[in-house]
Amino acid sequence: MPAERECRLSGVTLYSKPTAWVTLSRPRDEETIMLTVTRAYDFSASHRLHAPALGDAENAAIFGKCNRENGHGHNYEVEITVAGDVDASTGRVTDPEAMDKIVEEVILLPFDHRHLNMDVPEFADVNPTSENLTRVIWDRLNARWDGDGKLYRVVVRETARNYFEYYGPDGGA
Ligand code: NI
Repeated sequence: MPAERECRLSGVTLYSKPTAWVTLSRPRDEETIMLTVTRAYDFSASHRLHAPALGDAENAAIFGKCNRENGHGHNYEVEITVAGDVDASTGRVTDPEAMDKIVEEVILLPFDHRHLNMDVPEFADVNPTSENLTRVIWDRLNARWDGDGKLYRVVVRETARNYFEYYGPDGGA
């Protein structure tokens, strides 16, 4: 007889539309219930991957086509997740319109249809890889966030094959 296995519900996600969803989850080792609100955004931007500390040949070997001198573009997809308690009076974790306004102000307006290396100060001396882009988006949002709940996760999709996820410097704790 096979050993008995324990299964339990770990989460429920409710999509109100393809770009907005709420997830209720229970971490495996805890009894706490966590609620997160995620909203999806997109922007288009150019970049060039080039590490100044490395020589031209090494850069070409590491970054390939992405190292081409005049750059290239991506249609970036971004997911922003906020975690928190449900406010008893509104029944919400955070105000989605306030969230949209902050994302518009610190991410979409400064990044959309721009060249990341030249137009975004954080990338003046930092290679605009998706790893670094994900972290910069986190830092900008976290510094500006004044809504209910706290920033929990940032996801960046550079292409259909790439998925970058950041839970902040404390790893989502
Ligand atoms: Ni690229």
